[in-house]
Amino acid sequence: MITELAKSYDTIEDPELIRSARVLAASLPVHLRQFLEEYRLEEPSALGVIAGLEIDESQLGPTPRHWRDSQYDSPALPQEIFFLLCGSLLGDVFGWATQQAGRIMHDVLPIQGHEHDEIGSNSLQHLSWHTEDAFHPCRGDYVALMCLKNPYDAATMVCDAADVDWSALDVDALFEAEFTQLPDNSHLPDYGMDDAGDPAVDLLRARSFELIRSWNDRPVKRPILSGDHESPYMALDPYHMKAEGWPARSLRAYEGLCRQIEANMKDVILRPGDCVFIDNFRAVHGRRSFRPRYDGSDRWLKRLNITRNIRGSRAWRPAADDRIIY
Ligand SMILES: [Fe+2]
Repeated sequence: MITELAKSYDTIEDPELIRSARVLAASLPVHLRQFLEEYRLEEPSALGVIAGLEIDESQLGPTPRHWRDSQYDSPALPQEIFFLLCGSLLGDVFGWATQQAGRIMHDVLPIQGHEHDEIGSNSLQHLSWHTEDAFHPCRGDYVALMCLKNPYDAATMVCDAADVDWSALDVDALFEAEFTQLPDNSHLPDYGMDDAGDPAVDLLRARSFELIRSWNDRPVKRPILSGDHESPYMALDPYHMKAEGWPARSLRAYEGLCRQIEANMKDVILRPGDCVFIDNFRAVHGRRSFRPRYDGSDRWLKRLNITRNIRGSRAWRPAADDRIIY
């Protein structure tokens, strides 16, 4: 089925393919659909892994040097379609105008010149643990990764909220709207910009970059935790937080949470063919440093953002079926 579908589309970004994804996913094996439905509804773990997808590394060709244009003529299109269909069973996939030129499926690979930057395309520096897009009210419920290559076993780090001892923390303080979260670097024009070739889209993107940039000057106060006090959801990205002006109790509670998260961080090594779904409400994630090679053999992942409530971002999208947040 996946091979046949790959013959019908030129790129994973084809809006018709994205729109059909959930209907097409109904043809996936029932045990696979059941697994994802249980993961979604019961929240048994902050991490769901589907392993065993066939990847022929010789067919993949070299790891691209940049995400730009890698959505065309992709040697991994069948795997990308499988990944898209699985992700669509958890919710609606979406993208950001300010990330990877408004693409839905991102590339995660080391980029020359980013080695020491705080961004997913860095390498020699670890990527600090975070909630994906923690600063944005439309952040996804899941961030999903599909591994195509990981020759040096670079470790993804994950802390599951279930491993945090909430009874030892000042949970009430973390539920208060006393915390400020700044936008992360991945939404800066230096990293996410590319010419769309359409002046109207370029204008919308420029506005979106400007809006997000303005949040650096006027950060909104909000809580770190939400949901159930005994088993909360969390949203934080400490690298992009400034504790200035926080009440002393809030700061103590935040530092306690950070210590617990660091003590409970686990390494997950993605193998080619692994599709990993991280619950962005129940886990924070990061990546350990590694030495890039830039010889075509580097670590190469695909990434999807998935929301369970696409209507929640309607004010940010030009049309009901547009998946890009501006
Ligand atoms: Fe991330």
